[in-house]
Amino acid sequence: MAANKKLLVLPGDGIGPEVMREVRRVIDWMERRRSVTFDISEDLVGGAAIDQRGTPITAETVAKAREADAVLFGSVGGPRWDKLGFDMRPEIAILTLRRELGLFANLRPAIVLDPLVDASTLKADVIRGLDLMIVRESTGGLYFGEPRGIETLPDGQQRGVNTEVYTTNEIERVARVAFELARKRQNRLCSVEKANVMESGLLWRQVVTALHGREFGDVELSHMYADNCAMQLVRNPRQFDVIVTTNLFGDLLSDLSSMLTGSLGMLPSATLGLPDSSGRRHALYEPIHGSAPDIAGKGIANPMGQMLSFAMLLRYSFDMEDEAALIERACTNVLASGIRTADVMAPGTAKVGTSVMGESVLRELEKLSA
Ligand code: IPM
Ligand code: MG
Repeated sequence: MAANKKLLVLPGDGIGPEVMREVRRVIDWMERRRSVTFDISEDLVGGAAIDQRGTPITAETVAKAREADAVLFGSVGGPRWDKLGFDMRPEIAILTLRRELGLFANLRPAIVLDPLVDASTLKADVIRGLDLMIVRESTGGLYFGEPRGIETLPDGQQRGVNTEVYTTNEIERVARVAFELARKRQNRLCSVEKANVMESGLLWRQVVTALHGREFGDVELSHMYADNCAMQLVRNPRQFDVIVTTNLFGDLLSDLSSMLTGSLGMLPSATLGLPDSSGRRHALYEPIHGSAPDIAGKGIANPMGQMLSFAMLLRYSFDMEDEAALIERACTNVLASGIRTADVMAPGTAKVGTSVMGESVLRELEKLSA
């Protein structure tokens, strides 16, 4: 591991900068108390970059991301930039980073923390103890497939086209990440597609099955159609351990899963590339919540999704399991003590804003490492 851990911080838009501020305090604390040092730089992405530089992400920012050991991403987008046309969407920033850095494996955990079991709209009995990991393919499929576009037909009608396309290699490398993760968890993998309707789904199923036979016979593998998976996730989510699925289905199913936990503001994610010969891999970490323009600037956003994304960064990119677990413990303890941001409020708990929540986590970190 590089002695000096190069971190690129991209707060983005909306609540991104507010929640990232609290993470910076956690990073400062780590540097002071755990004698680690990070080589941090910060840059603009999304609407913020459009405003200042006329583009959602510059080539320089992409280059910096490529050089970094890890990227900590906030969130992009908001109504201010909605009218700028398809090529000027703030979302292009994250899509470009995924594509340019080859970040093909998007890990999206959905964990129900005990103190938050009542925050879900589902019955506590159904979701208590839920610990699910969705591995979403993130550089292929419908998001990037060609041909794509809007064309005008001879009769004056228009036609919008996107293409779902997957190659053997693309399926295999993301399935491999999922199988390996399953081995470290409950050893169960469910592969999700629509092999009953789509050829790309049929190939997906064949490739995952073959890889299982060749390398992962010890992992329990099942297959499920995506629509059934959506239903099963609501009916009995604890039947799943790791789910691996395509880009679009993963986008939908991970939003669904995040709400099983009742707290979109809490969930982190990691997006990983292929390791090179030295074991180094590109990686980006971001909370699942978006820029939440409706609450941006009010100081009420939950900073824990961003903090837990930083914890994932420490775990996956820097092998700092102890520090990652410390942040996770601190967050759980603060919630258990009844300190809550508005999104995870419950009767009998105290409502605080973003920066008080940040301070509470810092105080807990201090306590845990005393
Ligand atoms: C996500 C988001 C993105 C996606 C958007 C912002 C492009 O919804 O990370 O899930 O669709 O992948
Ligand atoms: Mg999404």
